[in-house]
Amino acid sequence: MCGIVGIVSSQKNNVVSGLIEGLRRLEYRGYDSSGVAIISENKLLRRRKAGKLVNLEADLKESPVSGNTGIAHTRWATHGIPNDQNAHPHMTDQVAIVHNGIIENYHLLKDQLLEKGVQFTSETDTEVVLHLVNQHLEQGLSPFESVKKTLSVVRGAFAIAMLFRDYPNLLIAARSGPPLAIGYGKEEMYIGSDAVALSHLTQQVTFLEDGDIAVLENSGVKIYNLEGKRVERKIQQSKVGTSSIDKEGFEHFMLKEIHEQPDVIRRTLSEYFNITHTGLHFRPLPFALENVSRLTIVACGTAFYAGMVAKYWFENIARIPVELDIASEFRYRQPPMPKDGISLFISQSGETADTLAAQAYVKSQGQPSLGIINVANSSLARAVDVTFLTQAGPEIGVASTKAFTTQLCVLAVLALAFAQARKTISQEDLTQYCKDLAQLPLLIEQTLLLKKDIAEIARSLLEVNNVLYIGRGPSYPLALEGALKLKEISYIHAEGFAAGELKHGPIALIEESVPTVAIAPYDSLFEKTVSNIQEILSRRGPIVLLSDEKGHSLFTSQAIKRIILPTTSSLIAPMVYAIPTQLLAYYTAVYKGTDVDQPRNLAKSVTVE
Ligand code: AGP
Repeated sequence: MCGIVGIVSSQKNNVVSGLIEGLRRLEYRGYDSSGVAIISENKLLRRRKAGKLVNLEADLKESPVSGNTGIAHTRWATHGIPNDQNAHPHMTDQVAIVHNGIIENYHLLKDQLLEKGVQFTSETDTEVVLHLVNQHLEQGLSPFESVKKTLSVVRGAFAIAMLFRDYPNLLIAARSGPPLAIGYGKEEMYIGSDAVALSHLTQQVTFLEDGDIAVLENSGVKIYNLEGKRVERKIQQSKVGTSSIDKEGFEHFMLKEIHEQPDVIRRTLSEYFNITHTGLHFRPLPFALENVSRLTIVACGTAFYAGMVAKYWFENIARIPVELDIASEFRYRQPPMPKDGISLFISQSGETADTLAAQAYVKSQGQPSLGIINVANSSLARAVDVTFLTQAGPEIGVASTKAFTTQLCVLAVLALAFAQARKTISQEDLTQYCKDLAQLPLLIEQTLLLKKDIAEIARSLLEVNNVLYIGRGPSYPLALEGALKLKEISYIHAEGFAAGELKHGPIALIEESVPTVAIAPYDSLFEKTVSNIQEILSRRGPIVLLSDEKGHSLFTSQAIKRIILPTTSSLIAPMVYAIPTQLLAYYTAVYKGTDVDQPRNLAKSVTVE
């Protein structure tokens, strides 16, 4: 999604470098153009370029701008192709704006403005906000009143920051949907899409609430709510250290984050375990677990696949019925919510528009909602009744890795807590499960040692156009997640199937040029998967087998490429088997030369639907 940075300063002669560094820290969100606008000697100056930040930096080198109040933007195109003309900031001679989100009624507003003779210079929806504010300014309203009046007619999800030629010590920001943070400096103030964007400037941040309008001067900020009343918003210590946005010697953020998994899993589990790992400790929940009639799990993408794995655990271990759906369907399906049901929303960013909308629906139905979230101050964390934080730290690579495995850890602990409360598990079994989870970081460390073997197999995928992934039980969602990882960063088409579904159609795809990755720990379903693998081999389909020693020993065929994983208990197998699927996708993408951390067309946080 788009990224916003703003600085109003009395200290610095030129804030451009601070703005550009902020954009650099927002690159992980994905973008296709960037730009800055500065007030300089009572003029608004702008530089903007399609493509990566280096293009803007080259342009600034060629024709520099300087000033101590400015805004900057990385754009992920929604309306209008990624080119210089559509790049933000958008400007009139007296106002500049940057925007993240979608103005849903922009057609109507644009038609009204065109009728008044307004000239549009881009295909973006953003320009309607610019020209409405500009009109109000020309009618004599103050910048604040002009913005407030404009936002009263604008519908949609947006975060904006605006600059005014005649007010060099002023920035105005507004939020209705995508997040915005205000940063506090020494005689200067900042605006950023998140704390990461401001982490080179300050650790003191305030997160705007929906409907807030912030008026910043270099001495401080005044925040107003929807009704135009002054409000105080908490100043928080941002937890984003500079290390979290540094590759620390790894070639890509994704590889760094794959290797962080043992540590962040240790950190996440320690939130919910006592040190002897024999029991769970949970803060009180606003409902009795034993009375819950059904659990509804809603998420998107990788987070959804984590929920899909957890469905097996909640149903098999805690004996609680689970309904599961992707948020973009759930929010419009609007299903009846059962009495005594609760809902669980899983999201790394806590800003995914569809997941937020799904949670709002559940809330409107009077159901309590839980969140498994990686960003503490996110919109979803503020919306749910109880948040279970994953301690993965900022996940910069667009392809989710450490967030996925820490989500699985929290889900496993929740399933055990439900089972304990519902008395569907003995103390002995609970202790064993806790010990299994406690062993997980070590098993992942062992699995990471296989990366050379996995990289070798990745080379064999470079020339293929299609890859299938199969699994049974909790390995089925892993097959879907493995396929998502490969397709989203290597651009090779990949599809996951329940192994048992092969004979119902997908087996028609099997041929020598279509490898199948079989995710098959030696568990109660392994024998069933063996027959699927045999069916593929007998049709000369190449197999990449992810299993443990015992599983591999049952296959003698030389045609199989093997990744021999540590023996694991069934509960933690999904977290361990996720690692080779992440590494396989990573090395394939590296060998293909794609943009591993910021794959084409993708954004880290999908804040618009
Ligand atoms: C995962 O690799 C993708 N980047 C994507 O599917 C992601 O999981 C999805 O957009 C959900 O994001 P969230 O967890 O921040 O809600």
